[in-house]
Amino acid sequence: MAFMDKVKDLGRKIVESGTIVEEIKKKAQALNKRIVLCEGEDKRVVEAAAICTREKLAHIVLLGNRDEIARNNPNVDLSYIEIIDPATSPKLETYANLLYELRKSKGMTEEQAKEQAKDATFFGALMLKSGDVDGLVSGACHSTANTLRPGLQIIKTAPGVTSVSSFNLMVAPPTGNEYVPDGKLIFADCGLNPTYTAEGLADMAIATAKSAREIAGLDPKIAMLSFSTKGSAKHDNVTLVQEAVRIAKEKAPDLKIDGELQFDAAIVPSVGEFKAPGSEVAGHANVFIFPDLQAANIGYKIAERLGGFQAIGPICQGFAKPLNDLSRGCKASDIVCAVAITALQTR
Ligand code: ACO
Repeated sequence: MAFMDKVKDLGRKIVESGTIVEEIKKKAQALNKRIVLCEGEDKRVVEAAAICTREKLAHIVLLGNRDEIARNNPNVDLSYIEIIDPATSPKLETYANLLYELRKSKGMTEEQAKEQAKDATFFGALMLKSGDVDGLVSGACHSTANTLRPGLQIIKTAPGVTSVSSFNLMVAPPTGNEYVPDGKLIFADCGLNPTYTAEGLADMAIATAKSAREIAGLDPKIAMLSFSTKGSAKHDNVTLVQEAVRIAKEKAPDLKIDGELQFDAAIVPSVGEFKAPGSEVAGHANVFIFPDLQAANIGYKIAERLGGFQAIGPICQGFAKPLNDLSRGCKASDIVCAVAITALQTR
């Protein structure tokens, strides 16, 4: 490793040590789950598989051809990694039959199912559906749509959940941030559904509160974000957020949730008190529900690039079994983190 890379790597390790990421990894180690990584053709994935195996974060099942993976990654110790080649797997026929049964009502033929099941992401999703693994991570070299579609078609939503969505765990920079006493925030939905109805937004806020508790260990205070605070502006987009707040409060009366709030009213105590007096959330929010994907995706990238936050995710929520999509710009360490989070979502 070049000297500057070593310095950068050390810096990253210092930032991570003792942080939420380390806590998540420790919890994952205790669970010892089987997680499938679908992209054996990607060097970062192979490196992550080796790290996860070495650190005993999970039992990794890597999809791909063992000889090719070994040829492309001569410096990686593959001896303890389970590698399955979908094309030659004895389970391929069983999985193809399962896929056919699941999708025949949508017009899929047996021939199409046989072909489709060989695709590594579909193969991984079918392993997950069959209970042969506990979780799936993919998307290092496939688009979000191509990664999530097999999950949406095969794994489907958990009982009572209308829509799969995603959230980002935003970890404050090591220098801290005066508005983030716990050192972490949740932003949603930064990666999955382009738009929301009021009911969908309410459901997504409720699902995100659960993830905030289970993955980040936060006591969720949820701000439903808008360009308006408590009726300061009038627009259909504002009405949608107001309606979502009403529905969420009705569905989950115990949640600490408020809106519509502008971001400053949600996070700065003095602004919150001024713009939304009496709110138990304004000025103290730690879970931020953006009104749509454009706002959320832009928002998390601003916090990451200008605010120095570490963005972990997007992490999917609402699937019947845990499945996560990586960013194509991810590093091996991001994949390791996604594996650990996926293991936690199996609980
Ligand atoms: N929850 C549950 N089921 C869903 C959802 C959802 N959110 N979205 C689609 N589905 C279901 C459909 O009902 C359908 O089911 P069926 O075939 O059994 O009837 C199935 O999934 C496939 O539906 P499609 O319409 O083919 O899927 P679509 O093309 O809508 O793709 C997707 C869904 C991939 C999630 C799409 O909404 C998308 O591309 N979102 C944006 C992702 C993105 O680009 N994010 C930003 C980048 S991420 C980053 O910055 C790190």
